Amino acid sequence: MAAQIISGTEIAKQIREELKQEIAQLKEKHNLVPGLASVLVGEDPASQVYVGSKVKTCDALGIYSERHDLPVDTSEEKLLALVDRLNKDPKIHGILVQLPLPKHINTEKVLYAIDPKKDVDGFHPVNVGRLMIGEPDYIPCTPHGIQQLLVRSGIEIAGAEVVVVGRSNIVGKPIANILLQKKEGANATVTICHTGTKDISFHTKRADILIVAAGKPKAITADMVKEGVVVIDVGVNRIGKTAEGKAILCGDVDFDAVKEKAKAITPVPGGVGPMTITMLMMNTVRAAKLASGVA
Ligand SMILES: NC(=O)c1ccc[n+]([C@@H]2O[C@H](COP(=O)([O-])OP(=O)(O)OC[C@H]3O[C@@H](n4cnc5c(N)ncnc54)[C@H](OP(=O)(O)O)[C@@H]3O)[C@@H](O)[C@H]2O)c1
Repeated sequence: MAAQIISGTEIAKQIREELKQEIAQLKEKHNLVPGLASVLVGEDPASQVYVGSKVKTCDALGIYSERHDLPVDTSEEKLLALVDRLNKDPKIHGILVQLPLPKHINTEKVLYAIDPKKDVDGFHPVNVGRLMIGEPDYIPCTPHGIQQLLVRSGIEIAGAEVVVVGRSNIVGKPIANILLQKKEGANATVTICHTGTKDISFHTKRADILIVAAGKPKAITADMVKEGVVVIDVGVNRIGKTAEGKAILCGDVDFDAVKEKAKAITPVPGGVGPMTITMLMMNTVRAAKLASGVA
C-alpha cells in the first residue's frame, strides 16, 4: 500500500488559520496584539530569507512584528543592549535572535540574555529545563512542529517505539524529551542514536516512528526500516542547483525507496520545514497570553 504523505504545508496552513482566528479574538476581547521582534546581525543570505518569512508570516496572521537589522561588525555589547531594550518593551512578547551570529559574538551569552518569558525559540536553559520536567512554557519550534505533524495525522504515539537519529539541542534532544513525557500526544518509548551508536540499523529497524535529524543526505535507506514505519525526515540538505539557480533539496531519508515500506512519511521540502515558523507564531501568541494573564 502506498505510504500516506504527511504534508507539513497543509498542516501548517491549518494551524495558521486557527492562530489567525485566535489572534483576532485576542484583539477583539482583550485588545491584545502579540508582538515578535526579530534580530538579524549581518547579511547571511539564508538568514535574511528566514527572517523575511518570519516577518511576512507575522503580517499575514496579525502579529505585530519588528525587524532589527544590524551590521555584521555590531559589538556584542550593542547587541546585548538591544536584547535588554526588547526584554523591557511591553509591545514585544517574543524575541528571536537569528543564528548563526558572527564569530566575534558569544551566541550563548546573547541567547541567555533573552528574558525566558520572551524566549519563543525555547533555547534558554530555563525553558530547556522546564521542557525536561514536563512543564514547558514554550516548546522549541521544530520539535513542536514534528509532534503536531504526528498528532494531526492521527499517528498513535503512546506506547510506540520512537527512534530519533541525531542529538542536537534544537531537534534531537528536545523531540526525544517531548515524546517521552507522560502526556497526551507523547508517552512513547524513545531511543536516541548518534555517531557514537554502534549499530544504527538495529535501532532504526525497531522503530514504529523514526525521526531523522542528522543533516546527512539519504543516510536512512530502505533496508534500515521495517514495514509500516512512520518516518519524519527533518533533514534539509542542499545537493545542487537547478538550471535556474534554485537550490535542490533532499532530506536525510531516501524518500523514494523508504516510502515503499512506510505507512506514512514526510517529504522534503514540504514536510517539517513549513511547521517551524508556524510553531514560532504559536509560541508568540502564547507569550502574549502569558504576559497578559489571558487564559
Ligand atoms: N526543517 C527545519 O525546520 C529544520 C530545523 C532544524 C534543522 N533542520 C535540518 O535537520 C538536520 C539536522 O539539524 P541539527 O541542527 O539537528 O544538526 P546537527 O546539530 O548537525 O546534529 C546532527 C546530529 O546527527 C548526528 N548524526 C550525524 N550523522 C549521523 C549518522 N550518519 N548516523 C547517526 N547520527 C548522525 C550527529 O551526531 P553527533 O552528536 O555524534 O555528532 C548529531 O547529533 C539538518 O539537515 C538541518 O538543516 C531542519
